Amino acid sequence: MNTFGALERALYNVVKHRVYGHKPSQVSPKLSASAPSTAAVLDLVAHDMAQVDLVIAQRLASGVPLVAQVAQYIISAGGKRLRPVLLLLTCGALGHQTDQRFNLAAVVEFIHTATLLHDDVVDESTLRRGRPTANENFGNPASVLVGDFLYSRAFQMMLDANSMRVMTTLADATNVIAEGEVLQLMNMHDASLDEEGYLRVIRSKTAKLFEASARLGAILADSNAHVEHACASYGQALGTAFQVIDDVLDYDGQAAEMGKNLGDDLREGKATLPLILAMQRGNTTQRETVREAIESGCVDRLQDIVDIVRETGALAATRQAASAEAQRAIDAARQLPDNAYTQAMVALASQLLERRT
Ligand code: IPE
Ligand code: IPE
Ligand code: MG
Ligand code: MG
Repeated sequence: MNTFGALERALYNVVKHRVYGHKPSQVSPKLSASAPSTAAVLDLVAHDMAQVDLVIAQRLASGVPLVAQVAQYIISAGGKRLRPVLLLLTCGALGHQTDQRFNLAAVVEFIHTATLLHDDVVDESTLRRGRPTANENFGNPASVLVGDFLYSRAFQMMLDANSMRVMTTLADATNVIAEGEVLQLMNMHDASLDEEGYLRVIRSKTAKLFEASARLGAILADSNAHVEHACASYGQALGTAFQVIDDVLDYDGQAAEMGKNLGDDLREGKATLPLILAMQRGNTTQRETVREAIESGCVDRLQDIVDIVRETGALAATRQAASAEAQRAIDAARQLPDNAYTQAMVALASQLLERRT
């Protein structure tokens, strides 16, 4: 831990206290009484995460001041660092211990950060990680270009693993994420989007990087195809549940806890699962109110929409959908060797349903 710098330590402590950490609720899949808490999950990888933060700090370096400034701005705001945690947990579960895991954990965080820089421009978001977004602070061009810097830095770094499988996994994931964001763009203001169309977007834009992170742990550990598939399925299901909850929080969260503004999805005319289910379940008036809001992207009636997604039971049903995905993640994790790391993977999937950040 002596290589853990003051900035990294401060960041890690912020992150540790921001990831989940809530009471279990009735929608959580059943866990044994001995299931580790979120803090215990993170403690398991705390030392590794310190190493990852070091790699992140070192590899952010650029001779171009604005690159370093914008990248530092978003990275130093913290974030939950979930994708690196996932990669480290799968490495731990499968007994892989080389330093390459720190490099690849930093790579997935860089790719994630690049997607956020681009996403906030596309979504015209103004708040991220409790701060004005990079686009708000430095403008759209700087955000897009520094996002490109982080993507390409990630690709430089992954070469270090000297593995075609690693490169294929990350190249494919990055490509699918981009497709997911474009698909989402095409679906804007389309109130006829159904659950299948919604699922396709979130599996691409969000779950794919979770899937890749978990798969990389298996690739590093030189696992057989069955184990690699179980890791990938775990990541995919976890990432899907994670995005479904994110979409719930856009109607049912607190900006102060999330560090993001509520209602951004509606403003963009995004037909997320709470709205899709509200239209299926609502009466004619409710259905028309939601449809009109998606088509216009007008947030004047945001409170009415929040009431409708609650009253029709759409919010609860959306949480149930997330719970089913979390259960799928748990089933996949249970195919891995039983140890503290796989127990942590199970706990993470269950606790994700309670997240408020
Ligand atoms: C935000 O991801 C984008 C989504 C996939 C919803 P996170 O919620 O993991 O963002 P940070 O890294 O913790 O800020
Ligand atoms: C997730 O979608 C974005 C990416 C996976 C790039 P959202 O647009 O819902 O994410 P937030 O809410 O802005 O974090
Ligand atoms: Mg967004
Ligand atoms: Mg969101």
